[in-house]
Amino acid sequence: MSGIQGKVVAITGAGSGIGEATALLLAERGAKVVLGARRTERLEALAARIVRAGGDAAWTRTDVTRRADLSGLVELARDRHGRLDVLVGNAGVGLLSPLDDLRVEDWEEMIDVNLKGVLYGIAAALPVFREQGFGHFVNTVSTAGLRIVPLQSVYAATKNAVRTLSEGLRQEAGDSLRVTVVSPGAVRTDFAERMDPAVKDGIEKMMEIGLSPDAVARAIAFAVEQPDGVDVGDIVVRPTAQG
Ligand SMILES: NC(=O)c1ccc[n+]([C@@H]2O[C@H](COP(=O)([O-])OP(=O)(O)OC[C@H]3O[C@@H](n4cnc5c(N)ncnc54)[C@H](OP(=O)(O)O)[C@@H]3O)[C@@H](O)[C@H]2O)c1
Repeated sequence: MSGIQGKVVAITGAGSGIGEATALLLAERGAKVVLGARRTERLEALAARIVRAGGDAAWTRTDVTRRADLSGLVELARDRHGRLDVLVGNAGVGLLSPLDDLRVEDWEEMIDVNLKGVLYGIAAALPVFREQGFGHFVNTVSTAGLRIVPLQSVYAATKNAVRTLSEGLRQEAGDSLRVTVVSPGAVRTDFAERMDPAVKDGIEKMMEIGLSPDAVARAIAFAVEQPDGVDVGDIVVRPTAQG
């Protein structure tokens, strides 16, 4: 199957920002989207918006730090549509701080959400993709992992762990599964909301030149719409003005 029409696409972190923009764009282009995140009121509103526009959307509360929730997301796709074509591992948190602050709980949360959350998605979808004989993992990483700067070490480390994991997965995947990583630069979303005020100001300043989340959604759509034999491995999308 090529193109986006009719593809069943599950998305984590789908209730806001890049995940929401991706759900809207793919649904507009004919995908059946299955939305996961913790804030169910957002998922419900987004699914209703997609359905009102003539699209197909389902949702389930998904905390990516819980392996069973990822299984539930994949199961919802299969129960409703009989298959899963794409899993977009997009949920992420960026709790940036100097290492000297020893915010160990924030480090753990970034590892749990950004890395283990993607691993749990792989654990849920890989056996399904193997059984089907097709499937596509798309993981949202970050330019924070390409240009390492102070305050972002742990965040960048989790994103680069996913980059490494995705390349290993691609090599193990064989000739029927596809694996894509998308590295956004600054994107205007709620991403900085939970950051420490000392860091948040600088990040929000950077966000002033940030891309609309639609720009990242279009990059994801580009990878998804390729024919089966074309595996788009790595996409970097940053604002032209980003250093
Ligand atoms: N904005 C940027 O500049 C930027 C740049 C590079 C990469 N990224 C990456 O892009 C991805 C999306 O971020 P965004 O910019 O769109 O920010 P966002 O609007 O804050 O989206 C992050 C999403 O992750 C979800 N999430 C957080 N913890 C979760 C958990 N435990 N389980 C399930 N979902 C969880 C949140 O939903 P709930 O709170 O409802 O669960 C939220 O929808 C992230 O992976 C981020 O690292 C962002």
